[in-house]
Amino acid sequence: MTEFQETGFQEIGREWLVVGDEDEVRPPADLRPEVPHPARMYDYYLGGKDNFPADRAAAEKVLGISPLVRISAVANRAFLGRAVRGLAADGIRHFVDIGTGIPSAGNTHEIAQQVRSDARVVYLDNDPIVLVHGRALLGGATPGSTSVVQADLRDPEAILALPEVRQALDSGEPVALLLVAVLHFIDEQDDPYGIVRTLVDALPTGSRLVLSHGTLDFTPAADAGRGPAVYRNATAQLTMRTREQVLRFFDGLHLADPGLVTAPLWRPDQPAQPTDAQVGIWSGVAEKR
Ligand SMILES: C[S@@+](CC[C@H](N)C(=O)[O-])C[C@H]1O[C@@H](n2cnc3c(N)ncnc32)[C@H](O)[C@@H]1O
Repeated sequence: MTEFQETGFQEIGREWLVVGDEDEVRPPADLRPEVPHPARMYDYYLGGKDNFPADRAAAEKVLGISPLVRISAVANRAFLGRAVRGLAADGIRHFVDIGTGIPSAGNTHEIAQQVRSDARVVYLDNDPIVLVHGRALLGGATPGSTSVVQADLRDPEAILALPEVRQALDSGEPVALLLVAVLHFIDEQDDPYGIVRTLVDALPTGSRLVLSHGTLDFTPAADAGRGPAVYRNATAQLTMRTREQVLRFFDGLHLADPGLVTAPLWRPDQPAQPTDAQVGIWSGVAEKR
């Protein structure tokens, strides 16, 4: 069995031919299986099968340094689910999910559309591999309700100009902007705070920002550089931020209860675990008033 056949990409390869238009009837974009890839490492933490040996080796290295990373990934995903479910129940119909990741259990459109069948989701990611998976996923989505677009968070003006995003913004209805576990891939040089401000400024009143972000606030100082160092050999680098730095992303917005907390502590739906307050993902939802 080849490396390719051992992964979920074999499935995707098949789907690709079904979903793609004329341009896309070709093998998936260069998967670069030999280079660890953050989205595939995240997929591995979540127990998915869309990853290669290089991704698994790098992910295991990170887990060797900090076993809580797997718990953090699962907790982050669960936060996304609870936030989306809550917002859909509050009447939000438009979701713009930037830094989508490889589809996994509980994707935004599945959760939102369980609550309200008219929910519309635009997924954006800069990674062609994620795009391949996302398009395959759309096989099961209601036509017109969900789209997957390649876009880079570092160019927010281009994102705001996309027809799929414009459609959500021009509806005049509140929009949920999801920046879940993506901003730690944006370093200071790329002005992450300016990016978030540009996007939030374009949202109608009543819109929500759903944001989570990796932190080393609970990592012993001796280990702090070791996790991000593994990502230095990957296709994207990590910039972890403190709680205070993450809080700045919400400037000018009204944080909903319980504020900015570790992912498992954001409106938990299961009994507390001893590690909850140490999970290295700050999470919050805020409203633009
Ligand atoms: C850790 S995954 C998070 C997936 C999902 N949001 C979640 O929380 O379950 C991060 C995703 O962000 C994407 N990403 C990283 N940098 C990006 C950028 N500059 N623009 C758009 N997406 C980016 C990666 O490709 C990856 O799919």
